[in-house]
Amino acid sequence: MAFYENDVGTLIDEAKLQERVRALGAEITRDYQGKELTLVCVLKGSTFFAMDLARHIDLPLTLEFLGVSSYQGGTETTGEVRITTDVSKPMAGKHLLIIEDIIDTGLTMSFLLENLRARHPASLKLASLLEKPARARTKIAIDYKGFVIDDVFVVGYGLDYAEKYRNVPFIGVMKGK
Ligand code: XMP
Ligand code: MG
Repeated sequence: MAFYENDVGTLIDEAKLQERVRALGAEITRDYQGKELTLVCVLKGSTFFAMDLARHIDLPLTLEFLGVSSYQGGTETTGEVRITTDVSKPMAGKHLLIIEDIIDTGLTMSFLLENLRARHPASLKLASLLEKPARARTKIAIDYKGFVIDDVFVVGYGLDYAEKYRNVPFIGVMKGK
């Protein structure tokens, strides 16, 4: 029995995740033909999605990682966003695709889009595995969207509860929360 089975129920299983990620990769491959793509992965939650997605993008690309902090642990947003780890190169003139795990209130992404736009990239788009529209506080346009989910706290496939459960291989919900 897996370590998480008492705590985590399945919301989106592995097969469904992989199928959607593959389709998004194909779409991105078509849209960026002839361009050099930079994936900006938002730490830590998007890493599993980003690495799977990258494998399905049939184009030369580079990877950058950006750490932001908007959560104090637990499940409530503080509304305060700051960059804890910045990308390693100048972003000016690059075709940036931000890879995020989930757009919840949208406050984190609103900050990030503004921050990256100010660095004058050639283009700036967003891929998010999940969207939770029920909690949106600002409208964020998601160019490549995996799944729309209800207002439940999710874990797995990179997403955590107090830093745990990121390695659960599917999108799950905490039992009894
Ligand atoms: P906002 O509210 O700024 O939040 O759109 C975005 C960030 O909050 C985290 N988040 C979650 N993390 N399960 C998680 O593990 C969730 O259901 C959830 N909702 C929001 C996440 O880090 C995201 O980048
Ligand atoms: Mg995140």
